[in-house]
Amino acid sequence: MQRRRFLHSGLAAGLATTVRPLRAGDPVGRRFRTALIGAGWWGGNVLAEAVASGACEIVGLCDVDTRALAATRRRLGPLTGDAPRDYRDYRELLARERPEIVIVTTPDHWHALPTIAAVQAGAHVYVEKPTAHTIGESRAMVRAARAHGRVVQVGTHRRASPHLQAARELLRGGLLGPVGMVRCHLNLGGGAPEEPLPTVPVPPELDWDLWCGPAPLRPFNGGNPLRPDEGPGNRGIHPRGFRQYLDYANGHLGDIGVHWFDQVLWILGEKGPRRVFSTGGRPIRGAPVLNAERQTSDAPDHQVAQYAFEGFTMTWESRVFGGNAAERGDPAAANFHGPKGTLHLGYRGGWTFYPADGGPAKQQPARLNEPDGQNIRELWADFLDAIRTGRRPLSDIEEGHRASVCSLLGMISLRLGRSVAWDPDREEFPGDPEASRLLRRAYRAGWTYPE
Ligand SMILES: NC(=O)c1ccc[n+]([C@@H]2O[C@H](COP(=O)([O-])OP(=O)(O)OC[C@H]3O[C@@H](n4cnc5c(N)ncnc54)[C@H](O)[C@@H]3O)[C@@H](O)[C@H]2O)c1
Repeated sequence: MQRRRFLHSGLAAGLATTVRPLRAGDPVGRRFRTALIGAGWWGGNVLAEAVASGACEIVGLCDVDTRALAATRRRLGPLTGDAPRDYRDYRELLARERPEIVIVTTPDHWHALPTIAAVQAGAHVYVEKPTAHTIGESRAMVRAARAHGRVVQVGTHRRASPHLQAARELLRGGLLGPVGMVRCHLNLGGGAPEEPLPTVPVPPELDWDLWCGPAPLRPFNGGNPLRPDEGPGNRGIHPRGFRQYLDYANGHLGDIGVHWFDQVLWILGEKGPRRVFSTGGRPIRGAPVLNAERQTSDAPDHQVAQYAFEGFTMTWESRVFGGNAAERGDPAAANFHGPKGTLHLGYRGGWTFYPADGGPAKQQPARLNEPDGQNIRELWADFLDAIRTGRRPLSDIEEGHRASVCSLLGMISLRLGRSVAWDPDREEFPGDPEASRLLRRAYRAGWTYPE
């Protein structure tokens, strides 16, 4: 309370246009004014870790669906005595609360604008992966973070997993010899033709126009109750189903793909591929449907992408049918292959090393936190330390950007139906105006694409 009074008196004294920057040497005990934009499933998980860190005073919650706000408030209740105010529009939240930390856990098409607005308002940002829906937005986020000197961390929490840090050390120490190939996959079971969902009235609690924001305004097709990690299912767009609608996200490649590509770039110290080719389609789900009365999702039901790096090849494979009983391990995994063997990284499992000489496998189990089954806690601790000491965080925006770019390049190749050459230093498609046009997309009237 005392600190809040101090801040308010500071505002009254004429500091209203700037937030006091956090500097190296800020007392460790002080709590940062923290706000959440996108109070859905994952936002609640990240917010819970912010509260658990003891370093955050939760001052604002923003969502375009008041049911999500109510659910997050119920979850927050037993965790903290803080009394955050509710907002529908993130611009109002930023202006009124002047948060020092902002968590952005909106759907993918809504990552860039709130992140950029937050750093412009002086906040440090924890934004979820993928960084953005198109490469141009993602690059603009990196620029904004650097221009305003803010810490912007991406939610690629696998970098903070103790068992994966150990695997990285082993691999960089020569466990496999030079890595020649990495195979990443996500194989989900089930799979059936997708029945179109009917257009239904927008519930009064939801501002559907603002949910769609800069992206196309699709007819609303209802939502399903929140439930743990969804399979391929036949789902409405909101909540959580947006992943399979290309207006708002980029299917599994743009979702789980980012986690694996981030691991590959981080472990092997790479910036990006030189050439990308992707193919895929919807032979099982069926052709997408979209009219005023009914619609299906439109992301591919399987996709293969190949990435040619200078020293190795990376592949991605996803499928929402057939399961993976024939393949060992988690439904999602990355396998690093070198002359001395294979290192298997499980999604929620640990890692296993299979020596090429047939010797006994070595493994380390995963060390994950509940209830989210990931390592957000460790990543949040790193974020706070980066803010306090003025260093780059473990999952810095530039790193999250590069991992997201891998996914987005795959989607561009899929759309073009051909391979693309990529210059990872200049972030350009050399001599390829057709691909270059897909670095960005038109925003809906009323919203300006970030530069
Ligand atoms: N790092 C990870 O492992 C991980 C895991 C899950 C989700 N995620 C990411 O988190 C994001 C959210 O996913 P989710 O599963 O929680 O989805 P969700 O649908 O449960 O939550 C998103 C929320 O954002 C709200 N929203 C939409 N537009 C908004 C706006 N303009 N302002 C404020 N709120 C808005 C929606 O109403 C919804 O409540 C996605 O980008 C996803 O990729 C990351």
